[in-house]
Amino acid sequence: FHVDMDPNEADKGTYPFYMLKEVDEQPNVMRKLTQTYLNGEGKPEIDDQLIKAMQAADRLYIVGAGTSYHAGLIGKRLFEKLTSMPTEVHVSSEFAYEQPLLSAKPFFIFLTQSGETADSREVLSNVNEAGYPSLTITNVENSTLSREANFTLLLHAGPEIAVASTKAYTAQIALEAILAKALGEDLGLDAAKAFDVRTQLALVANGMQAIVDEKDKLEGLSNEFLMDTNRAFYIGRGIDQAVSLEAALKLKEISYVQAEGFASGELKHGTIALIEKGTPVIGIITQAKTASLTRSNLQETIARGAKTMTIVRESLATDDDDLVLPDVDELLMPLLSVVPAQLLAYYTSLNKGLDVDKPRNLAKSVTVE
Ligand code: AGP
Repeated sequence: FHVDMDPNEADKGTYPFYMLKEVDEQPNVMRKLTQTYLNGEGKPEIDDQLIKAMQAADRLYIVGAGTSYHAGLIGKRLFEKLTSMPTEVHVSSEFAYEQPLLSAKPFFIFLTQSGETADSREVLSNVNEAGYPSLTITNVENSTLSREANFTLLLHAGPEIAVASTKAYTAQIALEAILAKALGEDLGLDAAKAFDVRTQLALVANGMQAIVDEKDKLEGLSNEFLMDTNRAFYIGRGIDQAVSLEAALKLKEISYVQAEGFASGELKHGTIALIEKGTPVIGIITQAKTASLTRSNLQETIARGAKTMTIVRESLATDDDDLVLPDVDELLMPLLSVVPAQLLAYYTSLNKGLDVDKPRNLAKSVTVE
């Protein structure tokens, strides 16, 4: 098994760990996707056969594991808002052995950085047996999932070496946005026409740069909130809840903090019992319609002793917020809100003296079921 790789791209350079390099590469990955998949006028250039195959479907099924599954949770929002196609997202290891009832004309989208994840391969092999059409979105050309699906879109993120996936998550979301725009525009939908993905991704790239330039601040927040704890919560609603799952996974896998990503409104239905003096609760607030609700849920945890931190988009921020994110389209806010979470996990792991790139018990690509 051989993977073609530019040796310069796989060089850590002056970075102590690949993860930090890969976090820093995200603005350029956004630009690369824009150059690859959008023309000078910002129109998507995606294989017409793929667009037709997707339009012939009555429902999209996104399948992935771990971080790729989390990118699918954002993709669902993008596809439903921009294409009006009902979209389901499934964890591949579950789908493989407990397949939900499918619609009459399903179309499958496999999200996988490596293209080799065994759980996802198992689902694709069932999908192929049943004769359903499929697309693999992957970072690795000629990977198994790419070869075995009907269509492939490449992430062009460059090699991702650190076990903790970072730039693949943001690349997957950006490419889902481009694909949803292409599909929705072709269907003549106003929401897709109004979604200026080219300008938005340019704003995202600049916004990411501004966040990665705040490393000292993020290291300080990691020291203050996460170094002396073995548990933490990320909370949010809707798309922010989906990001909270990814934020928590980063903290778990490299910093060994037992972290939970949680729907903030659901806390009071049981989980708030876990909050005690000093429990870190990080709120992600990027959506106008739920901002005040998440803020009051944070207050409820403060009343039980929680130590809270907020990650908030600029237009919703106050002077008391800890991290303020530049404003981009609400659907693309995950591309920015995840970056501080990646860096908080990075610094917590680093300052605990852990092996950031190779956390215990984990492999980069999980090729067993
Ligand atoms: C993320 O940080 C993980 N290490 C892991 O969850 C990963 O995303 C998952 O194993 C899926 O891998 P894939 O994208 O290569 O299929």
